[in-house]
Amino acid sequence: MSETELPVLSVRALQKHFPVERGIIRRTVGAVKAVDDVSFDIAPGEILALVGESGSGKTTLGRCIVRAIDPTGGEATLTRRDGTSVDLVRTPQRGLRSIRSDMNMIFQDPFSSLSPRMPVIDIIGEPLRAQGIARREIHARVREMAALVGLNLDYLTRYPNAFSGGQRQRICIARALITNPRFIVADEPVSALDVSIQAQILNLLQDMRERLNLSYLFITHDLSVVEHMADRVAVMYIGRIVELAPKSRLYATPRHPYTEALLSAVLRPDPEARDQPILLTGESASPAAPPQGCHFHPRCRYAQDICRTVAPQLTEVAPGHASACHLSKELALRGVGTA
Ligand SMILES: Nc1ncnc2c1ncn2[C@@H]1O[C@H](COP(=O)(O)OP(=O)(O)OP(=O)(O)O)[C@@H](O)[C@H]1O
Ligand SMILES: [Mg+2]
Repeated sequence: MSETELPVLSVRALQKHFPVERGIIRRTVGAVKAVDDVSFDIAPGEILALVGESGSGKTTLGRCIVRAIDPTGGEATLTRRDGTSVDLVRTPQRGLRSIRSDMNMIFQDPFSSLSPRMPVIDIIGEPLRAQGIARREIHARVREMAALVGLNLDYLTRYPNAFSGGQRQRICIARALITNPRFIVADEPVSALDVSIQAQILNLLQDMRERLNLSYLFITHDLSVVEHMADRVAVMYIGRIVELAPKSRLYATPRHPYTEALLSAVLRPDPEARDQPILLTGESASPAAPPQGCHFHPRCRYAQDICRTVAPQLTEVAPGHASACHLSKELALRGVGTA
């Protein structure tokens, strides 16, 4: 494998456990396994979508990778544009500064993530100032990036409150890209925006990927966004990846009952379709007290004895297609056609 084919990001058995504390002396009585043994790669230029219900651990996984929080265990390696690699788990916090320019995170809410007291030109240029770059060069690079993301250059001295939600997300994207990163975690980047604006921002992120050769971990609970953006999809359920496949394969031939249920809730404007959606009964269990065996078994309509006792491993069921289900070889699950 040549240097350029190395994954941009390689994650192995990553874990994040939050302690559960009780009583006056805050005794640790358990752990929330928010991320529990997660492994995947992201190739250069690839968009991997991460989907799953609220509380499944998507944001926690993203924050561990960009080291906004420290993982509990496992491995994560970033390969820089120059071919050198960085250990994202063991590099101490003080050593992280040099990694900050190689990867970044974009958040859901473009309102709370921008300082209201800074003009936009300074907000976008802040990561460069932290690198000690001269003011004149920072301004030149901010103008170039602002033009690239479609901001009006005449308004750069204004404050964030002068901008709409979609424009604010463009400001956040410009700030995240100003250091020429190779990898971006985008956490629900359009779910706080008006539907009419969402497609514009998704198209911008696609466009930036092509122009700047970026890779994304794209977190979303919206399967129509996945359809628009993803090359591959990872489905997460209570801290674990339960299915991982190229997008069209995952939609057409899901191999995990949870994925089948998620897909069946996607409405298709097809009057011929007589299939009823598969209702996900009950709530997702708490990651502080997940069920024995397969985490999904209490809600699974195919569950058998083994599912209640033995946790299934994520294993390859077809080339490039992995599922964590004891029955994935036997079940003929229902998918949906992609647009
Ligand atoms: N700092 C924390 N301390 C304790 N538990 C936490 C902390 N952060 C997250 N959790 C727990 O970890 C689990 C995963 O949370 P996370 O925010 O990663 O889920 P998510 O998939 O991003 O959900 P959503 O779709 O709602 O954003 C949840 O049970 C949450 O309560
Ligand atoms: Mg989240």
